[in-house]
Amino acid sequence: MLAPDVDAVLERAHRQIASDAASNPLINPTFDVDALRNALLGSPEPTWVFERDGEITAHLYAALLQGGGELAAWTGPDGSSADDNGDLTTLVEFASTHWRDRGARHHFVWCSATHEHVTRWRDMGYTAFSTRGALVLSRERARGRRNEYVVRRAERRDLPVAYDLDEQLDRAQGDAPERRTPSERRAIRRDLRDTLLDPDNNHLVLEIEGRVVAQCVTFRAPARRGSYPNTVFLSEVAVDHDFRRRGVARQLVDHALSLARDDGFEFCETQWRLSNREAALFWSAYGFTATYQRLQRAL
Ligand SMILES: CC(C)(COP(=O)(O)OP(=O)(O)OC[C@H]1O[C@@H](n2cnc3c(N)ncnc32)[C@H](O)[C@@H]1OP(=O)(O)O)[C@@H](O)C(=O)NCCC(=O)NCCS
Repeated sequence: MLAPDVDAVLERAHRQIASDAASNPLINPTFDVDALRNALLGSPEPTWVFERDGEITAHLYAALLQGGGELAAWTGPDGSSADDNGDLTTLVEFASTHWRDRGARHHFVWCSATHEHVTRWRDMGYTAFSTRGALVLSRERARGRRNEYVVRRAERRDLPVAYDLDEQLDRAQGDAPERRTPSERRAIRRDLRDTLLDPDNNHLVLEIEGRVVAQCVTFRAPARRGSYPNTVFLSEVAVDHDFRRRGVARQLVDHALSLARDDGFEFCETQWRLSNREAALFWSAYGFTATYQRLQRAL
């Protein structure tokens, strides 16, 4: 993309988000054009465009980000568009060579969770990895509340149970915590402790007869294209395996979302891996609707 192309690319990105939002009201169509213009023109990474008869028919952008010990290329919901899938495939091939040369090992892409968009990326060899879901916070959430379940804010003394529940969550997501080295385990626990004790986060636990059997964390979702500004993010939801299918997660999430609503939030988002069947069933039973899907391909 050259500087004179930027308006055409912005127009395409805008149309992409607007069409995602038209098919799913949980996607925010509002778009800060100036912020994206500055981001595209100021980025060290190029935006790739496909031009046909003087018209731009596809665009592709990815930021190169370090995470989990490797460099990866990340494309957000506004980072790609195509009138024709073949044009996008060409851009992906060009860009992949560039990303690989820059040291990236994977390309991750977020696209709207519609069949059309997911299929477009799958057809290019990408594998669907996780789903982002959202719901509107409403007033009528407390269903079938059980008095013997007590939800409270977590305290420092809950950290050992929190580590255990986090490992159960990792296992459910397909990771194997027992294969970690002691130093990896220490680093993960340190990060988790910082997350749980961060006063900007709301870490809740659910007790049955004085025993902590579940936890979750909520925090203000970072500003993201496609998400509404007043969104709380729900994370770390895990129920001890001996206490599942008894309405524990439902009651804990009801409580967390009711606190979020009292704090003025209007929407909630969460994320789950497609391989985690229990989680997918729970989130859809709870009322979350898929908004975006993350796909990936090795470079
Ligand atoms: C996903 C998880 C949090 C659900 O917790 P839970 O306390 O068992 O869920 P609930 O009992 O509140 O379930 C509420 C509804 O969700 C659905 N549901 C939950 N687990 C389900 C399962 N394993 N199979 C089918 N439906 C399920 C059901 O509709 C259920 O209602 P029902 O029992 O009346 O049919 C729990 O399985 C867990 O901790 N898994 C490991 C960690 C994890 O994957 N966390 C989510 C990360 S994104």
